[in-house]
Amino acid sequence: MNIAAPQTIYLSDYMAPGWLVESVHLTFKLVPESTRVISRIAFTPNPDAPPQPFMLHGEELKLISAAIDGVAVSPDLTATGLTCAVPDGAFIWEAEVEIAPAKNTALEGLYMSNGMYCTQCEAEGFRKITYYPDRPDVMGVFTVRIESDLPVLLSNGNPAAAGAGWAEWHDPWPKPAYLFALVAGDLVAHNDSFTTMEGRDVDLNIWVRAADLDKCAFGMGALKRSMVWDEQVYGRAYDLDVFNIVAVDDFNMGAMENKGLNIFNSSAVLAKQSTSTDADFQRIEAIIAHEYFHNWTGNRITCRDWFQLCLKEGLTVFRDQSFTGDLHGHAVKRIEDALVMRNRQFQEDAGPLAHPVRPESFVEINNFYTVTVYEKGAELVGMLKRLVGDDGYRAALDLYFTRHDGQAATIEDWLTAFTEATGRDLTQFKRWYAQAGTPRLTVTDDFKNGTYRLHIAQQTLATPGQPDKLPLHIPVAVGLLDITGAEVVPTTLLELTEAQQTFTFDGLASKPVPSILRNFSAPVIVERDVTQAEQAFLLTHDTDPFNRWDAGRSLGQAVLLDMIASGGDLDAAYIDGLRAALTDSTLDPAMRALLLAMPSEADLAIALAGQGQIPDPDAIHQTRRKAHRQLAMALANDIPPVLASVQIDAPFAPDADQGGRRALSNSLLALLIWSDNGNAAQAQFDSADNMTQQLAALSILLAHGAGDTAAQAFYDQWHHDRLVLNKWFAVQISAAQPQDAVAVATHLTQHPNFEWKNPNRFRSVIGALTGNQAGFHHADGAGYDFVADWLIKLDPVNPQTTARMVAGFDSMRRWDDARRAKMHSALTRIKDTPGLSRDTSEMVTRLLS
Ligand code: BES
Ligand code: ZN
Repeated sequence: MNIAAPQTIYLSDYMAPGWLVESVHLTFKLVPESTRVISRIAFTPNPDAPPQPFMLHGEELKLISAAIDGVAVSPDLTATGLTCAVPDGAFIWEAEVEIAPAKNTALEGLYMSNGMYCTQCEAEGFRKITYYPDRPDVMGVFTVRIESDLPVLLSNGNPAAAGAGWAEWHDPWPKPAYLFALVAGDLVAHNDSFTTMEGRDVDLNIWVRAADLDKCAFGMGALKRSMVWDEQVYGRAYDLDVFNIVAVDDFNMGAMENKGLNIFNSSAVLAKQSTSTDADFQRIEAIIAHEYFHNWTGNRITCRDWFQLCLKEGLTVFRDQSFTGDLHGHAVKRIEDALVMRNRQFQEDAGPLAHPVRPESFVEINNFYTVTVYEKGAELVGMLKRLVGDDGYRAALDLYFTRHDGQAATIEDWLTAFTEATGRDLTQFKRWYAQAGTPRLTVTDDFKNGTYRLHIAQQTLATPGQPDKLPLHIPVAVGLLDITGAEVVPTTLLELTEAQQTFTFDGLASKPVPSILRNFSAPVIVERDVTQAEQAFLLTHDTDPFNRWDAGRSLGQAVLLDMIASGGDLDAAYIDGLRAALTDSTLDPAMRALLLAMPSEADLAIALAGQGQIPDPDAIHQTRRKAHRQLAMALANDIPPVLASVQIDAPFAPDADQGGRRALSNSLLALLIWSDNGNAAQAQFDSADNMTQQLAALSILLAHGAGDTAAQAFYDQWHHDRLVLNKWFAVQISAAQPQDAVAVATHLTQHPNFEWKNPNRFRSVIGALTGNQAGFHHADGAGYDFVADWLIKLDPVNPQTTARMVAGFDSMRRWDDARRAKMHSALTRIKDTPGLSRDTSEMVTRLLS
């Protein structure tokens, strides 16, 4: 927490560690308020490092004793670590410290959750467990002994020995401290096994409290699918005898890839039909895959320093996205990923928190686990793959794995592997890692004598600390259609490298319609004067499913913006386009549901701001509601037959086909309520045998002011289930009307089940409010004050979760003066809170800058 003035760390200051760790032995004597940690570390001087004093990180530790080569020493202690005189050569460091896991509410280091001990060490939590060089480029072989009466005692690697009240674990793979993990609790395992392509038998376990044992089967299946996929697609097999996953209720993030012992937020692993939505199932499968894939991209090859975070996170997100696409279909997955980029990453890039995929400085690294590092980082991997081709990509990855296995690597190492494996010069491409902001492509065209020319200009606006931008190397996938809708030029990858460039297509009979940035081939904004007629044409004819959807989305945006400006009615041609999509049985239901979705309120606000206007959140909300009602009336006769056609006759399965059918029928249910008094929604609520349908029905009823009875019934049915209760809290706020949202949220914070120190529960209320645009930004400013009050309260308890949630104020610059002033004063109130954590203070400072 905030002791000294916060220090800024710079990438350019990187210095190799003075000492390396050969081996670590740790003994934990677990006691809730006085755990003893005994460490024995073999250090050797690093021949490649400049001279420097010997320093170990350590925070909030009570040092009991320390010795070097068996002789007691008295190190100099500071708030962040210790220094000590050490011998010239190799030596053995021994120390004993005391810590209090039961008092650790920050959920970083060793802490307790429901009577169970667990750890979270990434990024810099290990220093709250013992004195250690807590940096990712120091990799050691860990042996761990746990002493406790609790029945299940786990750590990284393979089990070595165990007896009554103790267990020992040995991890043969050298690792940085951030991958250390320990769990002790009264747990049971859902067990399975897997034989790797190398013939290694692996024991698989998902450890949970006994009551959750019926929620493990799906996660186990997802784990096995991930193991198979990484073998088949990347040639990478698992490398230990056991793979353990543990579900924890109190967890700041989704999950953590500790070597051989992944720790999961229970919301990111536990699932069953009656309690989990299709979205939950899909997220859980992706997170399990993500953490498993880190075993190679993160653990076997880790990061030299935290500035290289995208090296493991961007790559691993790219891998989990590919996995999901391979299993469930690439078109829908690409649309979902592009929506995250456009709705969240482009936002971050356009606001006060903008930073490069590889930042150059930070105060608190926890604040840089962002959608830019993760999702834009993944897009950079995707662009590299597009530029070098599938075979080139595989060759580059093979070289990267061979060359850097067991190392802590950099983005330079990564790009060098691509250059050497494929011969491509990536000097210009590297700018993507250093330059923040979203490039805007301005596209114009002309046609003469059979020759079609596309002129593309690129420009990136200034971001904090980066006034001047250089042109990037951008892969732009383009196809051309003729006026009958036939594709005359199939998808072609143009490489834009200049500020302005012209691309020529010869031998065309007539001026084609261009389909630009197919499959979202680069994380950029395309600006082109397109008529609504041309968008409607692409919505019907484009052969690229992504661009087909995107044409519908742009059309919907244009139509809604017109409505906001004119106060008029929903455009008839747009309705016809949506009707065509809805009734096109050649499209799978998931795609139809996506096509049918109108732009979100946030989309519309961003679009208005992009046109230099000041959005009115209330007008956006009312207009979108009106558009939705008019669409419902217009499609009234089309809905029943489509609903009938997507009914599911088979037993429940959380698969893409059934998920798509449920998604489409829930979209239709939301339309039906405008004309049937909620009868269909209430009937679905009453009869649902799965959470997707039950929750959607509840949400629709609540959004129409007809959900009170259902909300009470939902609570009565599910109050014993923490994960479902989170949904109950969140849905009431998400579905509330603008003028009611803060009152509903305030009321819910007074509910006996509002356990605000639990990050999931806190997010279910405070996060749901910041996600309800018109409610959070209601003109009276009550939303800002409410959220600020709660963040001020949470900060001393859990700085990491507080800091992440302050980002809800990221949109400040978009709104009118009155709202901006209210947001500013709420943020200033947070900033001026005495003793504010370093985490939150960095975020508020950036937001206010
Ligand atoms: N390594 C991270 C977990 C993490 C994040 C630890 C921040 C410390 C600070 C993990 O691999 C991760 O990225 N988890 C994501 C989910 C994933 C599917 C993107 C998460 O927790 O949200
Ligand atoms: Zn990750």
